[in-house]
Amino acid sequence: MRYRGTLACALGALLVASTAMLSLPVALRYLIDNGFVANDVETVNRYFGWFFAAAVVFGGFAALRFYLVTWLGERVVADIRDGVYRRIIRMDPTFFEVTRTGEVLSRMTTDTTLVQSISGVSLSIALRSLVNLMGGLVMLTLTSPRLTLYILLGVPVVVLPIILVGRRIRRQSRVAQDRVADTSGLAGETLNAIETVQAFTLEDLQVRRFTAAVSESFQAAVRRIRTRAGLTALGIILVFGAITLILWGGSRAVLAGAMTGGQLAQFLMYSMFVGSSAAALSEIWGEVQRGAGAMERLSELLQAEPGIQAPDAPQLLPARPMGTIRFDQVSFSYPSRPETRALDRFSLDVGAGETVAFVGPSGAGKSTSFQLLLRFYDPLTGVVEVDNVDVARLDPEQLRQRIGLVPQETVLFGETARENIRYGRPDASDAEVEQAARAAAAHDFIRELPEGYDTFLGERGTRLSGGQRQRIAIARAILKDPPILLLDEATSSLDAESERLVQSALEVLMQDRTTLVIAHRLATVKKVDRIVVIDRGRIVASGSHDHLIRENALYSRLAELQFGGA
Ligand SMILES: Nc1ncnc2c1ncn2[C@@H]1O[C@H](COP(=O)(O)OP(=O)(O)OP(=O)(O)O)[C@@H](O)[C@H]1O
Ligand SMILES: [Mg+2]
Repeated sequence: MRYRGTLACALGALLVASTAMLSLPVALRYLIDNGFVANDVETVNRYFGWFFAAAVVFGGFAALRFYLVTWLGERVVADIRDGVYRRIIRMDPTFFEVTRTGEVLSRMTTDTTLVQSISGVSLSIALRSLVNLMGGLVMLTLTSPRLTLYILLGVPVVVLPIILVGRRIRRQSRVAQDRVADTSGLAGETLNAIETVQAFTLEDLQVRRFTAAVSESFQAAVRRIRTRAGLTALGIILVFGAITLILWGGSRAVLAGAMTGGQLAQFLMYSMFVGSSAAALSEIWGEVQRGAGAMERLSELLQAEPGIQAPDAPQLLPARPMGTIRFDQVSFSYPSRPETRALDRFSLDVGAGETVAFVGPSGAGKSTSFQLLLRFYDPLTGVVEVDNVDVARLDPEQLRQRIGLVPQETVLFGETARENIRYGRPDASDAEVEQAARAAAAHDFIRELPEGYDTFLGERGTRLSGGQRQRIAIARAILKDPPILLLDEATSSLDAESERLVQSALEVLMQDRTTLVIAHRLATVKKVDRIVVIDRGRIVASGSHDHLIRENALYSRLAELQFGGA
């Protein structure tokens, strides 16, 4: 519906072009019957003039129709790509746990390309054929109603099998596209982890997996092509079989004197139009079904709704952020692992400006608590509150604007160092970016990069060391300057010297905001207001370092391992 203007213009151009073309057989008929038979030069000249004029109109408007319809195809696809991306980028983590990103990319490229060829070129041919078919049928009726009646009786015989086979093509095409998406998913996954693949010399294994996927997608395509080839044969045989039959009847009518030779010639040309249009339509029908198969998946993506959404009337956070956090009896299981509790009746109150450290064994649920605070998931029971508002009642965007995260796995983008830091606050000035970098002890190493702040960091920041990447991520959080700061192992990849620098920067940063710190190295959290010990999704103890050393067996064991027997 969005493109109805263009579509109407295309249709108009098509009608003019088709009318011009359909007038040619009439000219031919009068040429034969009035010109040749009457031996009249004047008439012959006039009809050839008609011929040429019709050809010029036909050519001009055919070009216009082609332009409009192809434009439409490109426009539709551009809008679909845009729409899919807009949807996908807002999906929650649960979606990406079941959908590989390579798969989505494949949908956005190969499936849309299919739709493009259908909504552009094929639609153009289909429209033209359809109009020619209709016009041809009308002209046939005018030429010989009786013969046309036979044609119409034959239509269901021709069309029904084509529609049935078309359905099959659609199913097979969808499967084939799924297999193509599988190969993209596989390739994307391994190419993103190319160093691991090569370090473990898994190249042959991965090649075998990929070859198997490619060959499956090939076989799925072959199944589709076979059906499609059958459809082509069926279409042509049925259509031209019908025409042969009718012409045979027409020839007998001429012999019997019921029709003139000119009429039969005219009838013959219209039959060819009708026949070739019908054949083209049956072929296009196969293409359209193929496009429909691809479009099914795309519309699934276009209609995908994130499980995490803003409520209809989201509550607003107080204009002046306080920075309080509350977990109240929160229990949670990841959707992909419903039988284990990642958090189990987890309760915690964090006051404004307080710094709380989470420690505990790997897999205890520390990062999970951050995920719930950012509302990437909703808890099964219990509530998570920020500034005394249940986060489920907030617009996730407003919530996340108040939180700065330095994640456990640093993520950089294929941009310059400056732009990567600026992701913290897109409207920050260059001076503010540099100030943040200084605070994160990143300024010196960035300046030593070949082009300083304008150095391109490579896809996913692969041209930096782990510790350098981490400092960029910290600078990003510092630049954002949020009321709540979440540090998930923020200094784990740093050497002792940089860690001391970053640590002191972070301490300044923590002063006037609420901070949750996850740390394995207890030395980094010894001075923190309150340390919370988490084990198997539950808070097992909390208090100061000295208190926990005395009171909690798990903590004192961890401390003993790290600081020695003393
Ligand atoms: N996306 C996920 N889907 C399913 N289970 C998950 C997912 N992420 C984490 N888990 C599981 O949830 C539990 C808690 O994980 P979490 O990441 O919170 O641990 P953690 O305390 O941060 O550990 P670490 O110190 O190793 O980072 C683990 O048992 C983990 O296997
Ligand atoms: Mg973690």
